[in-house]
Amino acid sequence: MNTNHIRTVKGGGSLQGIIKVPGDKSISHRSLIIGSIAEGETNIEGFLYSEDPLSTADCLRKLGVNIPEIKKNQPFTIKGLGIDGFKEPEEILDCGNSGTTMRLLMGLLAGQKGSNFILTGDKSLNERPMGRVSKPLSLMGGKIHGRKNGSKAPISITGNRLKGCVIGTPVASAQVKSAILLAGLNASGTTSVIEPASSRDHTERMLKAFGADINIRGELGRNIVIKSGNNLTGQNILIPGDISSAAFWMIAASIVPESEIVIKNVGLNPTRTGILNVMDEMGCNYKILDKSTIAGEPIGSIDVKYVSNLKPFKVEGDILPKLIDEIPILTVAACFCGGVSEIKDAKELRVKETDRLKVMATQLKKFGANIIEKEDGLIINGDSKFHSAEVDSETDHRVSMSLAIASLLAKGSSKIARAEASRVSYPTFWDDLDKLIN
Ligand code: S3P
Repeated sequence: MNTNHIRTVKGGGSLQGIIKVPGDKSISHRSLIIGSIAEGETNIEGFLYSEDPLSTADCLRKLGVNIPEIKKNQPFTIKGLGIDGFKEPEEILDCGNSGTTMRLLMGLLAGQKGSNFILTGDKSLNERPMGRVSKPLSLMGGKIHGRKNGSKAPISITGNRLKGCVIGTPVASAQVKSAILLAGLNASGTTSVIEPASSRDHTERMLKAFGADINIRGELGRNIVIKSGNNLTGQNILIPGDISSAAFWMIAASIVPESEIVIKNVGLNPTRTGILNVMDEMGCNYKILDKSTIAGEPIGSIDVKYVSNLKPFKVEGDILPKLIDEIPILTVAACFCGGVSEIKDAKELRVKETDRLKVMATQLKKFGANIIEKEDGLIINGDSKFHSAEVDSETDHRVSMSLAIASLLAKGSSKIARAEASRVSYPTFWDDLDKLIN
């Protein structure tokens, strides 16, 4: 991203209104990827029209998948190629800023026998860890090379015959798990993934709906077993709103005085709702309305009202994967909870689009926040009063949006540099903010 859009946000107002957040990013990626390897047509509605999923669409087109031009708010149909029908691309596959694109494609392409692929990304993505995917795929017979001993992109893949394996992943990452499961579709026999804690399960749900032989074992659903051999069949996919985007409004309504926001049509998959547990601990005032299920995913609307005496919270252990993308906005929330909040076991945040522990601590301190950075988390004292500041997203979409919400609590006008980073997951964020400000 070479542009620098500075946004000015005035503190002191309240937020009111009804909003519908854009489609779920994780499910949008998967709808394209799984639709591409299915037989027949997959109809997709509610797709997130933003940079990350569009990077996935672009890569899949280069692999020969028939994906029409995607237009905002318009359903579309893709035609799958079957499990091993990709062509060798003439160009490098550019994954942009998107870890999900790169890691899931690595799993998908490792077993495309006889073809060669090169994947790259932007400056941030090419510094993120890829060994966590290339290592397990190599155990399955994948031929994957990359900078720094296969651990950094650009990555090259020579499609090879894969064999099913039992793989224990060292990190609870849905991207790693999904890469292994997608490789398992093209491997001989059975592939089994054991996670240290349950991560989001959109891949498992969607593969099952498309007809894959996939089973979840173990009490906590940490062992996922996939057997190759079943053909996948195209489906109709209706993508719910992204709870990770809704999170900005859920927290904003809770901490900005006199606010109330209703967020419609939010995905409530239990592997994603850790933020609701934290909001319970904080004593937030929210209701879930209109609960239903679409395309195998639970959804509902969330009505959130301001509370003046929020309590501090602690985030640690197995809940982390269920709120991994909400840590930046929860850090903002902690600044307005009376007492000391703690975020632990969150080392993963250091290898996201930016080092989110460092970036959030650095940027929020500019408003006057009282935050101590630890190796694996943050300690936040909620006693500070925010003053206006000039802050910087450091190119991270979730940081940009978290700083916008923090600015609402600061006295005076604050400036957010590189605010356009929000385009990666929530292109209409700034318009929605304008609509909600009173
Ligand atoms: C994602 C998984 C998470 C999350 C990311 C999207 C996915 O990453 O942070 O925004 O779609 O699978 P990890 O799986 O690396 O934790």
